Amino acid sequence: MASFNLNINGKTQQVDVDPSTPILWVLRDHLDLLGTKYGCGIAQCGSCTIHVGGMAVRSCQLPVSAVGNQEITTIEGLSENGDHPVQQAWLEHDVYQCGYCQAGQIMSASALLKSNPNPTDEEIEGSMNGNICRCGTYTRIKKAIKTAAANSENA
Ligand code: FES
Ligand code: FES
Repeated sequence: MASFNLNINGKTQQVDVDPSTPILWVLRDHLDLLGTKYGCGIAQCGSCTIHVGGMAVRSCQLPVSAVGNQEITTIEGLSENGDHPVQQAWLEHDVYQCGYCQAGQIMSASALLKSNPNPTDEEIEGSMNGNICRCGTYTRIKKAIKTAAANSENA
């Protein structure tokens, strides 16, 4: 066991855990942040995606000891009122089906638009292809990312 001070969604949170604990389980089991989902546990599905230092990261494979004082953002902290441009575009295009993968999809999409505000179709596909959706919402996801990009550009 070791003590870690983590910067999560703008707040410092102290946790006492084994240093090898994946940050996914710190979020879910210790901090009750249940929006980040467990899918595969081996960095293959993207459902556990969060931002660490502004980058999309698979939280199931990131030990808490590797995070240091980097800023962590989860789906709960992406926006105060659920009104991030990506979240608004998701609603506009009715992207959700069962919803299980969608927090990870939104975290990947928002990281993409932060680094590339106007991605091409190929760039969207390249960046999102590690996020699996068993419900097959890929077409709506791509449309929503393009809408979010356009809305952010016009804002
Ligand atoms: S649970 Fe992390 S990538 Fe699947
Ligand atoms: S919406 Fe069901 S897994 Fe993606």
